[in-house]
Amino acid sequence: MTDTAVSDATRASAKPATKPARPFFSSGPCAKPPGWSADKLATASLGRSHRSKLGKQRLQYCIDLMRELLGLPDTHRIGIVPGSDTGAFEMAIWTMLGARGVTTLAWESFGEGWVTDAVKQLKIDPTVIRADYGQLPDLAQVDWSTDVLFTWNGTTSGVRVPDGEWIPDTREGLSFADATSGVFAYDIPWDKIDVATFSWQKVLGSEGAHGVLILGPRAVERLESYTPAWPLPKVFRLTSKGKLSEGIFKGETINTPSMLAVEDAIFSLEWAKSLGAGGLIARSDANAAALDRIVESRDWLEHLAADPASRSKTSVCLTVDGADEALIKKMAALLEAEGAAFDVAGYRDAPAGLRIWCGATVDTADIDALGPWLDWAYATAKAAA
Ligand SMILES: Cc1ncc(COP(=O)(O)O)c(C=O)c1O
Repeated sequence: MTDTAVSDATRASAKPATKPARPFFSSGPCAKPPGWSADKLATASLGRSHRSKLGKQRLQYCIDLMRELLGLPDTHRIGIVPGSDTGAFEMAIWTMLGARGVTTLAWESFGEGWVTDAVKQLKIDPTVIRADYGQLPDLAQVDWSTDVLFTWNGTTSGVRVPDGEWIPDTREGLSFADATSGVFAYDIPWDKIDVATFSWQKVLGSEGAHGVLILGPRAVERLESYTPAWPLPKVFRLTSKGKLSEGIFKGETINTPSMLAVEDAIFSLEWAKSLGAGGLIARSDANAAALDRIVESRDWLEHLAADPASRSKTSVCLTVDGADEALIKKMAALLEAEGAAFDVAGYRDAPAGLRIWCGATVDTADIDALGPWLDWAYATAKAAA
């Protein structure tokens, strides 16, 4: 027996005494911000028209807070749209693709979903560049005379793009970033982004419902100069009479939003603002570092993402020595039954493993407290196998 094995066995022998105070580690919907409770939400806009003065003010306030916290330059528009991140991303690709060649990058399930849209639904014969779970494709291969679709952070493999250096300033095509588990956790270089999308239930820990669509000037130019060959449902329409529908970016939503979800997002954004500049990123960094310490000190846990430079700081995916899906399910069920950790099994299409959300709404002390529980769940599940 090695020293590590001895210490692992000792660590695992008893049920830990202390549980994470908030055992919420799901990668979406994610933990609510610390201190959140439903009765703290502003409710004056509920039961009112979203087009009333108050409704529009709250929507605009939500947009203003997102702009401020994302450090979004005036060159980029930001609006609230239907259908969560999927709705926002599909709205963008349905309205803008087809004008030139397309490259889609896929290294996990959600990127693969955009490949399916481009190949099977839009039938635009894209170039597809893939990598296995845990890897990033060779970003240098991308032909930027084409439009390029990618996920900023691959939520199901825990692999992200390291930065925006691979996106040239002089690109001819547009960059489309599905950034739903990336915004508020990394500094996004907005000058490299023509389209970005996200939804509130990830790093903000708010309610799922709406998508957020960010458009740079070149995306607006595309929308105003190009009409796709396929029909567009009303919820995807971003232009009217050949001009961008600017109202969408001022809180005049295409259709009825949930004002409760908007108020919930405002709560999270105000919390985020109270942390000061860089506060969300710092919290996510600290959580990812705490989880990394747990992984480093156990010989049975590894990161799925091979390269630390492209390892997620939000949806951190881990491999478990000798584990198959059944063992992971058992571990997750044990942890849930104890109220020690919820929703830590990896995504259904990913290799069997654990996925621990390290976004800003999780407290670092709870990640620290999780370590011994993982030891216990692993030892207990293995003993029962
Ligand atoms: C990278 C990525 N894209 C898209 C989605 C789908 O998001 P939504 O449910 O907000 O449409 C998710 C959800 O986890 C995701 O992680």
